[in-house]
Amino acid sequence: MLYGRHMGRDSTAAWRGDHPWAKVYDAITDRTGVGRLLWRIGVGSDLEVLHRTARAELDALPDGAAVLDLPCGGGVVLRDLPEDRSLRYTAADVSPAMLQRTREEAAERGIVVETVEADVEDLPFDDGAFDLVLTFTSLHCFPDPHRAVQELVRAVRPGGRLAGSTMLRGGPPRHRLGWVGGTALGVLGPGCTRAELEQWLAEAGLVDVVLDPSGAITYFAGTRSA
Ligand SMILES: C[S@@+](CC[C@H](N)C(=O)[O-])C[C@H]1O[C@@H](n2cnc3c(N)ncnc32)[C@H](O)[C@@H]1O
Repeated sequence: MLYGRHMGRDSTAAWRGDHPWAKVYDAITDRTGVGRLLWRIGVGSDLEVLHRTARAELDALPDGAAVLDLPCGGGVVLRDLPEDRSLRYTAADVSPAMLQRTREEAAERGIVVETVEADVEDLPFDDGAFDLVLTFTSLHCFPDPHRAVQELVRAVRPGGRLAGSTMLRGGPPRHRLGWVGGTALGVLGPGCTRAELEQWLAEAGLVDVVLDPSGAITYFAGTRSA
């Protein structure tokens, strides 16, 4: 299963070192017309689906709730945070450059966020530390997505939510463009199938799981069992 490392291509190291693709990706997610078009070509979905999903989860939280956004990338989800909300927002990523982009995005928007350099395989957070954990466009980038799911669910408090998205293995050929390109660049891990994701989420303790494909990306969400 540890395809990324067995192939000598540790995707985490590539992201941590601010691989050239990280800069391109950051520009694509910047919500400009060109970025949105490239996103649509690359994954066959609209970036707005990510923002809509994030906003729905954030809107459902009471003021003061604790949110973990991992991997935060360049602060994509910060664009969905209303300025009048007082959430305790932690943005975490393995890449210092991505965290710096997130800090710049937060400063531009006048939003207070804590940024933490962290590897999803070994999160520096207590069990159940967050009311909501967001993990968008993520699992396919990690060398061990199973371990990542375990860690991300561990960080959700019982009764809290995990929501995110990932490319999945086993889709139709038209969804393979991202896999081919990302694998060639060395920024992707082994990924997982829909069945594996469902099994891992359930085993980690997530209930009422919903999976919702949008092009090559599948959105998933669920509640940690009490
Ligand atoms: C495709 S970007 C997604 C960023 C953002 N969530 C989004 O939806 O646009 C993948 C992110 O995963 C981060 N990443 C890669 N490996 C990681 C790891 N092992 N632990 C934490 N973050 C990691 C990268 O630095 C990058 O910011």
